[in-house]
Amino acid sequence: MKVDSPLYTLAFATLVCVVCALFVSAASVLLKDRQEVNRLLYLRKNVLQAAGLTEPGQRLSTEQALTLFNRRIQPRLVDLRSGEYVSGRDVESYQQRAARSDPEISRAADDNPAGVRRIPHLAKVYLVEDKGSVSHVVIPVEGLGLYGTLYGFLALERDTRTIAGIAFYENRETPGLGGEVDNPRWRALWPGRQAFDDQWQPAIQLVKGQVGGPAENPYEVDALSGATITSNAVTELLRFWLSGQGFGPYLEKARSRGVF
Ligand SMILES: Cc1cc2nc3c(=O)[nH]c(=O)nc-3n(C[C@H](O)[C@H](O)[C@H](O)COP(=O)(O)O)c2cc1C
Repeated sequence: MKVDSPLYTLAFATLVCVVCALFVSAASVLLKDRQEVNRLLYLRKNVLQAAGLTEPGQRLSTEQALTLFNRRIQPRLVDLRSGEYVSGRDVESYQQRAARSDPEISRAADDNPAGVRRIPHLAKVYLVEDKGSVSHVVIPVEGLGLYGTLYGFLALERDTRTIAGIAFYENRETPGLGGEVDNPRWRALWPGRQAFDDQWQPAIQLVKGQVGGPAENPYEVDALSGATITSNAVTELLRFWLSGQGFGPYLEKARSRGVF
């Protein structure tokens, strides 16, 4: 076959494509376990950030993060319908995202501005231990942003009202605009704000402009500039998961018990 013939060019291009496809597939299969380990580690680092156990922007090695997580965080499963803890199930292996697409173990959500379609019966919460007692709880939150679903964690203090921290670990918003949900400087505005008002209605919201500190303005946080849609999405998703459809029953029970 002539080197400059169309057939040669086609055969060569096909060969390059097949070899590259083989490399990519092999890498994907061989690295699957490591990807899963890294995904879990990243989630745990975000739980630690939300819980305020790491400074905004602080970087931890794998070993430091795992040691801190294992020492201070206790993951539990909660039945969102009753608000009770569920025992006798392996918390680690429970896949909350997969559960919401299974009609046997999830239910349809009422129409809501957070864009949440289905709610899993069981949700993972993370209890934060401090000197032998539980000081905070970290709850998972999610909702529709401008370009996709935002996933994050909200940490609440023992009064179930005061926000200890927030962390968004996955979003499809534009970097520099809605993507600023993971900016440590913005996250630093959250600790000390109040999630619920005096009637225990979800009250936290993002507003345009500079709202001042938690003492001055407990229910409001600065919106992200140039990203009103993402900011509104954050307000709505937090309010959804704090409501009766989300962690409301669980938080109410923790409140009346006096402990998480
Ligand atoms: C390329 C591009 C990317 C954008 N990304 C976002 C985004 O991630 N989140 C968001 O809320 N708005 C985003 N916007 C802006 C929205 O379209 C809308 O103008 C904005 O939310 C209004 O916010 P403002 O009132 O603070 O200006 C983007 C706009 C453009 C042109």
